[in-house]
Amino acid sequence: MLLRFPVKIWTVSVVLDLIPETKQDWWEVEALFDLCFAPGREALSSYRLRDNADPVFDLCHIVRDRSGILGGAIRFWPVQVSGHPVLLLGPVAVHPTRQGEGLGGVLIRESLKKAAELGWQYVILVGDEPYYSRFGFSLLQDIEMPPPVNPARVLGLALGDGRREDLMGRVEQLPLQP
Ligand SMILES: CC(C)(COP(=O)(O)OP(=O)(O)OC[C@H]1O[C@@H](n2cnc3c(N)ncnc32)[C@H](O)[C@@H]1OP(=O)(O)O)[C@@H](O)C(=O)NCCC(=O)NCCS
Repeated sequence: MLLRFPVKIWTVSVVLDLIPETKQDWWEVEALFDLCFAPGREALSSYRLRDNADPVFDLCHIVRDRSGILGGAIRFWPVQVSGHPVLLLGPVAVHPTRQGEGLGGVLIRESLKKAAELGWQYVILVGDEPYYSRFGFSLLQDIEMPPPVNPARVLGLALGDGRREDLMGRVEQLPLQP
């Protein structure tokens, strides 16, 4: 387990566990993403960077309550930008009945902390700037995602010794492992 944390719903405190996603969790997490995103999510440009690639399993996490019910999940994928290894954050989603309790923030902050500890220096994503800015993400002007993408939603963050100005150029899949 990575973290055990309480959330308060009205006056009741509930304890949740942040744990690594395992292969057995895969389809349950996919079902959560299907519930939380609009139909056709896999047509989005960021999915072209995930095709036939494995996620970075060390950084994929889920939140479960003490009954084992899935509350949220986050995944990361390896890509490259101008030769720099970069994490593509997402999908991240919290079950509609658990939104607004802080789970999204815990999933993102704890995973980014672990990513920095593992030596990753760059993270990009396609998402809402008003949400992700609280974690330090900001708009990337000079980056080229596979089309179609809304450039106002392409955000990035440097970790550790990473320099944000290095996030410039075409985003590509990391060469697949044989
Ligand atoms: C986005 C999401 C992961 C946030 O998870 P969460 O657990 O509800 O978020 P938290 O409880 O940590 O944070 C809640 C805060 O984020 C804000 N917020 C949530 N989604 C937001 C968005 N799209 N844009 C701006 N602010 C947002 C809430 O208004 C709230 O603000 P407050 O702290 O000022 O009250 C969750 O709402 C979700 O799964 N949404 C559907 C799937 C999705 O859109 N995923 C992200 C893809 S870009």
